[in-house]
Amino acid sequence: MQLFELTKEILFSTDPSLYLSDLEKRNEVVSLVIDKVNNYEDNRVEVNRAVFLALSAIYRDPFTAESCNDDHPILKELIHRYQLKICQDASKKHAGLLSSLPSAENFEEWCIDIVQKDESNVGHPLFIFLQKDSTLAQLREYIAQESPFDMYFSDIISSMQAGHYAGEREEMLENFWDEMGHGAKENFHRNMRVDMMNAFDIPLSLHLEDIEYFDVSQLVLANYYLMCVHSRRTQNILIGMMLATECMVPGRLEMQIAGWLRNGASKDQIKYLIEHVHVDEEHAKGWMKHVVLPLIQKDQALCQDIVLGIMLRLDAATEVCDAMYAHLRK
Ligand SMILES: [Fe+2]
Ligand SMILES: [Fe+2]
Repeated sequence: MQLFELTKEILFSTDPSLYLSDLEKRNEVVSLVIDKVNNYEDNRVEVNRAVFLALSAIYRDPFTAESCNDDHPILKELIHRYQLKICQDASKKHAGLLSSLPSAENFEEWCIDIVQKDESNVGHPLFIFLQKDSTLAQLREYIAQESPFDMYFSDIISSMQAGHYAGEREEMLENFWDEMGHGAKENFHRNMRVDMMNAFDIPLSLHLEDIEYFDVSQLVLANYYLMCVHSRRTQNILIGMMLATECMVPGRLEMQIAGWLRNGASKDQIKYLIEHVHVDEEHAKGWMKHVVLPLIQKDQALCQDIVLGIMLRLDAATEVCDAMYAHLRK
């Protein structure tokens, strides 16, 4: 059986105990999960589709009669094993960097240098392509492909606040408040994105109903954030991922905006993109100063997970840029 099909079957079953009462059947299904995740490279597409479905289930519309076994133990097993596998592989890959971490005093400079020099930053050919050569259809497809992460961003930032009661909570709240359009529903970033998608006839429910539509790189990126928000153990990895997200040079977005304007879009139609040019610059500074630096100053050992998060995010973003550059020009 395919892992993605199995995940769908469990998630939408009306029987919350599916595969749990018959021990033999349960073992068979768990073995499949273990085998697919252990042989991750061979099953990358299937595993990431299944994990995305399982991880994003908690954010599905609660006001429907649709069954949603998001807390099913076999789905938990899948998520747990995926999270361990991804973190172990990344720790191995970046062992050199992780063994020579900067001190708290040098961290900011060190981090900005790593993020800004990263391949996925503004110098990637994808952004020059979006700015100068893309068609409207290609820009639409780019926005559609970014749905798995973008549609859940406000949920991620809202879920990650639990357990934080010091100064970092203020920064998280401020970031979340921006996401929530300072309380005005029409300015919720997610709603602004939906308005933009409607303006350009980009389907809204791809990330719910058509997971196979997405390039695997986009699912990997979303899964890394969603898997980290899912447990307390990976909270500091998530903090590092958020830091790298906000520190990306806003120029990437400005180049995309130039592409939309060149293709005749109005500023009002792409308000979602324009809004992020300025807010993200502020978020980057605030996240560094009020979340990351105080944590490292309090306990230097936390630096390990924060840097692992930065590297996970940069690796995922590079894969996205390479994949999108090829996909859009097909
Ligand atoms: Fe936003
Ligand atoms: Fe931001």
